[in-house]
Amino acid sequence: MTQDAENKHSDSNAEHSATIKSYRRRFKTYARIPATGRDRDDILAEMKEMRSLEEARWGAGYASGSVYHGGEDHIEFLNEVYAVNSQSNPLHTDLWPSAVKFESEIVSMTANMLGAAQSGAEPGTPEEICGVVSSGGTESILLAMKTYRDYAREKKGITKPEMILPTTAHAAFDKAAQYFGIDMIRIPVGDDFRADVAATEKAITDNTIVIAGSAPQFPHGVIDPIGELSELARARGIGFHTDACLGGFVLPWAEKLGYDVPPFDFRLPGVTSMSADTHKFGYAAKGTSVVLYRGLELRHYQYFTTTEWPGGLYCSPSFAGSRAGALSAVCWAAMVSIGEQGYLDNTRRILEAAAKIRNEVAGIPEFQLFGDSLFVIAFGSRELDIYKIMDAMTERGWSLNGLHKPACLHLCTTLRHAEPGVAERLIEDLKASVVYVKANPSIEGGMAPVYGMANTLPDRGLIADLLRKHMDSWYRLS
Ligand SMILES: Cc1ncc(COP(=O)(O)O)c(C=O)c1O
Repeated sequence: MTQDAENKHSDSNAEHSATIKSYRRRFKTYARIPATGRDRDDILAEMKEMRSLEEARWGAGYASGSVYHGGEDHIEFLNEVYAVNSQSNPLHTDLWPSAVKFESEIVSMTANMLGAAQSGAEPGTPEEICGVVSSGGTESILLAMKTYRDYAREKKGITKPEMILPTTAHAAFDKAAQYFGIDMIRIPVGDDFRADVAATEKAITDNTIVIAGSAPQFPHGVIDPIGELSELARARGIGFHTDACLGGFVLPWAEKLGYDVPPFDFRLPGVTSMSADTHKFGYAAKGTSVVLYRGLELRHYQYFTTTEWPGGLYCSPSFAGSRAGALSAVCWAAMVSIGEQGYLDNTRRILEAAAKIRNEVAGIPEFQLFGDSLFVIAFGSRELDIYKIMDAMTERGWSLNGLHKPACLHLCTTLRHAEPGVAERLIEDLKASVVYVKANPSIEGGMAPVYGMANTLPDRGLIADLLRKHMDSWYRLS
């Protein structure tokens, strides 16, 4: 590592460490299991203290994304549901038929929200839209990519699989490529940040197992041309995955509310799989997502089975073995208690808040909006270091996402930002941050130098090393 990179990293690491390890001085640290058990009330009191410290930030809408509902009643209800189901493990279907009920219904409700009924695939036939519950968006994407790899190997004899996706598709696809030995062909997006259909077509080879697009993509919140991309795939008998982790529980309702939403789901005949996160705008607790497939055969390539293990005949649908059935119960309860009308109302509130924020950001002359999006507001600056704006916002309590290639920030609008006064506070703080950064152009510290370096350092291996060290710091006690 260069000395400069090392210095910048250690400065920022020290700052970051002070934030993420802020409880070190406040609460007792346990390096070993205590000799005798600690009083339960004491433990709960300590946890409640942490919760209230943390809730002060996300509860008041200072975070981008992260907590998508956050209403007190809703959280209390989900907590009660968790408590009722806390012992459930979907691996043991005989003991917990409730988990089987909840998960099959979560999949069906999600599939029907995402065009299953209009897909031409009849329920109860081998073509039906089917799926499984996973632990989150990343797992849903990993599962789908593994499924395409295994399907293509067996059905088409492809041993050097390739997947094609826009540069903006989520990092979970990189993870899938690394984990499962798939070559990833990333296609640069156009000026509107949408996938480039012509370049995608050119990249298709005999080894292409899947093409993917997002509805919408995480960085700038724009929806890829899923109709055209999925047609490219369909015409060649290749799989197409719509990553609707972020938008799966927003876009169907936005469409019903009259927003202009291009088709992105199973109504398109070329879409063969989708991911949609219940733990985002489905308003479940963290830890669930749904991965869907067109046809039972494809889903079979996701499943794991082994018949020779002395532990017995073993099968599991996703990566985990034992899982928290309570999370599926919570997810089911969130969906059923909110209902269509609740999703419509919540979506309306979020999209109205997002439009307000977007308009205000557009009116700040130092900023430049990126992409035409519904609820993710991404913006950069031609004249200011946008990461210094991010640092100034952090000083004011905000947690905005810093993005790069190109440098920008984003706010993923949630119900937290639809609460009275939150959008106004955000805009006021953004304007104050502009004034501050303009008045203090050479201010040091924060994340700005790290982002600056990460954008310019040609050796990406060094950056990856810094990230590994960063993760090490999460597990260090001192
Ligand atoms: C478009 C998209 N795909 C996938 C993911 C990954 O989801 P998770 O963090 O639940 O693994 C995200 C997360 O924000 C996302 O926005």
